[in-house]
Amino acid sequence: MPAPCTAEVFLDPHFTTGEVDPLLFGSFVEHLGRCVYTGLFEPGHPAADATGLRTDVLALIRELGVTMVRYPGGNFVSAYRWEDGIGPADLRPRRLDPAWQSIETNRFGLGEFTAFTRAAGVEPMMAVNLGTRGVAEAGELLEYCNHPRGTTLSDLRGAHGAPEPYGIRLWCLGNEMDGPWQVGHKTADEYGRLAAETARLMRMIDPSVRLIACGSSGSGMPTFGEWESTVLAHAYDQVDYLSLHAYYDPDATDQASYLASAQDMERFITDVIALCDAARARHRATKRLSLAFDEWNIWYMSRQRPGQGEWPRAPRLLEDVYTVADAVVLGSLLITLLRHCDRVTAACLAQLVNVIAPIMTEPGGPAWRQTTFHPFAQAARYARGQVLQLHVVSPTYETPKYGDVPLLHATAVHGEDGVLTVFAVNRDPAASLPLTLHLGGFVAAAPVSHSVLADADPTAANTLAEPDRVTPRDLAGTAVVNGRLTVTLPPLSWNVIRLPVASVR
Ligand code: AHR
Repeated sequence: MPAPCTAEVFLDPHFTTGEVDPLLFGSFVEHLGRCVYTGLFEPGHPAADATGLRTDVLALIRELGVTMVRYPGGNFVSAYRWEDGIGPADLRPRRLDPAWQSIETNRFGLGEFTAFTRAAGVEPMMAVNLGTRGVAEAGELLEYCNHPRGTTLSDLRGAHGAPEPYGIRLWCLGNEMDGPWQVGHKTADEYGRLAAETARLMRMIDPSVRLIACGSSGSGMPTFGEWESTVLAHAYDQVDYLSLHAYYDPDATDQASYLASAQDMERFITDVIALCDAARARHRATKRLSLAFDEWNIWYMSRQRPGQGEWPRAPRLLEDVYTVADAVVLGSLLITLLRHCDRVTAACLAQLVNVIAPIMTEPGGPAWRQTTFHPFAQAARYARGQVLQLHVVSPTYETPKYGDVPLLHATAVHGEDGVLTVFAVNRDPAASLPLTLHLGGFVAAAPVSHSVLADADPTAANTLAEPDRVTPRDLAGTAVVNGRLTVTLPPLSWNVIRLPVASVR
């Protein structure tokens, strides 16, 4: 049978996957390169507020729609002493940061981070150091942050200007402890025991915390699978989430497979769900673990330069410039996260500013949006409500890594605002893809809108010289006829189609 040259999506208001957790639109701030220093924090910058936060960056973070921010690492956290970042700023120690071969001044620490989360309107997600430190230090950090008052540590927080507890709910039990690059790297048995004991103490101090155990730092890790099973054998009862990390390198692979990176993410998620549910069965548990995809992005890793044996302050590290193609791939990764919203209930785009980030800044200069800013901002804004189970019919193309892959990647959300939003990616770099949406029991009202991110040059990017070279544009609206809507998805494009729903049959 010849492959169809158009795509079709069948929707039904009664077939839903689940409600989108707003924590799916999290991001990540690490003490790495210029993410903190001269990124979101730059005392003396013309746009800085009295605390040194850049208000131009805060405005972009709000526009991006980020709901939650993980901190302070990443690899950085595994050698970090949280006490270095509290108290009078001029008394804080300067330390070596072995993870990124940099000098850490500790000018920005816990108090500054919580002030940042309030200013940005985001929920904090804190990581504890389980590399060079352990159970006791994690408990002390939690007591400092969340205990109301009347102990040395909670009163110390008060003395540092924060009499009210920070009330931090989300806690990562270390970072990428399976990775040989991690300071304090552990075997799955060592980490599983440590995570379980740390979790037990943390829950004794504050029973309201939500705890995230480290899963694998990538599906390609040689220990993937075994790591999850062993860690959960120790810690299943103590934790709420298992983490996943994935980065996709545009340079490291062929273009056809790169455009299909969501296939890898899809497989990774379904494998980790299976591993979590196998552990659940072994524990005879009623609790089902959630997945926290707390690092995901596109990363030109092969362009990373090794350290030069120097120890610079806030060096320009991992400052990838993203193209239109990268934005389309990032959009397809967002679609995959949404399609698994029943199990993936937290996620962090890594990272937020300057370091593999949607927002870039110049020291003393402007801040601007990368191409990848746009799909994230649109999804964070419109993907609120019920994700629908779609039936998708699409032509396919061949990839060396994933075999035949559909040209269309899509999901749809029936929003709390009564609007039906279809997010759709056309992976074909050469041809438009006509798409018919069969609306089933949705009775649509006018007007229908269609926003698209695409460019005749898929390598186009936003830069300091041309910060708005790539932005989404609106295509002329099409009308619904007999319960069907036909739109054209331009070559290699990210599309957001919005239909107000008059009623549901
Ligand atoms: O986000 C950059 C780095 O990637 C993080 O520090 C680490 O956790 C991961 O390997």
